[in-house]
Amino acid sequence: MATDILTDEHRATIDAVIEDKGAEPASLIEVLHGVQERIGYLPQEVQEYIADRLGLPAGVVESVVSFYHFFTTVPRGRHQIKVCQGTACYVRGGKRVLETVAKHCQCAVGGTSPDRRFSVDVVRCLGACGLAPVMTIDGDVYERVKTTRVPEILSRYE
Ligand code: FES
Repeated sequence: MATDILTDEHRATIDAVIEDKGAEPASLIEVLHGVQERIGYLPQEVQEYIADRLGLPAGVVESVVSFYHFFTTVPRGRHQIKVCQGTACYVRGGKRVLETVAKHCQCAVGGTSPDRRFSVDVVRCLGACGLAPVMTIDGDVYERVKTTRVPEILSRYE
């Protein structure tokens, strides 16, 4: 099962996570979390290797990965953009901010820009409704975002 995606380094990483979490079917979710944290995503080859190591059918692992929204099978960007689409943000222009961000990143919501610089996601409320519309990039919070500011904000991230 040697592929470009499942490198020896990835195998070693997965083995270390499994050693830590336990090589048994009940550890699946924790193992998936640990592997995604280290490798960044869970492509099919990685899922198959995990299934093999935990003694599970590959289809079970695939179902779990597709069921939980926090697992991803595509590589994530270097920076995570989250645009709030909670009610306050939505009615104050959050939708247009999201559209502008997605356009600049050339990807859909939940996707990653072709240059792997950004991943774009939505959140339902960041708890700063009075400052709507709000978006975050990694740990940075941007308030009262205007669509015209989006290119300048994104340019701060390499
Ligand atoms: S709705 Fe966006 S911060 Fe609350």
